[in-house]
Amino acid sequence: MQIRLDGRRALITGGSKGLGLAMAKAFAGAGGHVALVARGEEALAAARAEVQAAAPGARVAAISADIRTAEGCARAFGEAEAALGPLDILVNNAGTSQRGPFLDISDAAWQEDLDLKLFAAIRLCRLALPGMRERRWGRVINVLNIGAKAPLAASTPTSVSRAAGMALTKALANEFAPHNVLVNALLVGIIESDQWVRRHASDLRGLSWEAWKEEQGRSVPLGRIGRPEEFAALALLLASEQGGYVTGTAINVDGGRSPVV
Ligand SMILES: NC(=O)c1ccc[n+]([C@@H]2O[C@H](COP(=O)([O-])OP(=O)(O)OC[C@H]3O[C@@H](n4cnc5c(N)ncnc54)[C@H](OP(=O)(O)O)[C@@H]3O)[C@@H](O)[C@H]2O)c1
Repeated sequence: MQIRLDGRRALITGGSKGLGLAMAKAFAGAGGHVALVARGEEALAAARAEVQAAAPGARVAAISADIRTAEGCARAFGEAEAALGPLDILVNNAGTSQRGPFLDISDAAWQEDLDLKLFAAIRLCRLALPGMRERRWGRVINVLNIGAKAPLAASTPTSVSRAAGMALTKALANEFAPHNVLVNALLVGIIESDQWVRRHASDLRGLSWEAWKEEQGRSVPLGRIGRPEEFAALALLLASEQGGYVTGTAINVDGGRSPVV
């Protein structure tokens, strides 16, 4: 069986790097069209070229917007539909890993985390769902982390934003299932991405990238960290016609690392 997205149009936040870029390549390679949204223009231009080279037949839009604001979300959505046409697939993926001892986290840090990881998804869903409902076909994929189900000590604000993302996923899945709009979440453990490249660069122990990755992988039952292509393959299935009977679920993509199913 081949998983195809022929002609489907997707907006992917955080599409310029890491998991977002891997999903963009997978979606475009399966016949879809993609709009990549992020802030940094240089990375966006490079990502657009990379996706286009991998899938010459795809329409690929690169949109610079900060989705922490309502205005940024509205502009990203408007420009994506202007470039590609009505959107069938929304992937709420942009995010950072903000965490620390609870007593050290200010209101401003909480607000920033919720703006990026929760309100951006709420606002983009509000923009995308009416058209999906009208056309009776839609997919929303919320990229979260395994802390959504099993928060560790000193994991706020991120685990709280992610748990809210899981509740949003379930509520929207129930509300929009009658309209053939499917809403799911993918919960990431440790998957190679630009975020991990940055963490390696800030680790002062002088480990090589390979040795560093191997060390991270020791906490994972499968014994290694994930590859972005492995993550993108599951996202592609959820976005496709073949994924048509899966909604309202939150799947761990973590090599077995989460303590809960
Ligand atoms: N990789 C993992 O192991 C892992 C683990 C747990 C959860 N996750 C989650 O998975 C998602 C993807 O992670 P990743 O590892 O691929 O991260 P990444 O490599 O750091 O990429 C993050 C992407 O989000 C964009 N972004 C960040 N802030 C933004 C904003 N305010 N507005 C618009 N775009 C913004 C970034 O571009 P700009 O900075 O240029 O805007 C970039 O394209 C994130 O939500 C992350 O928290 C990943």
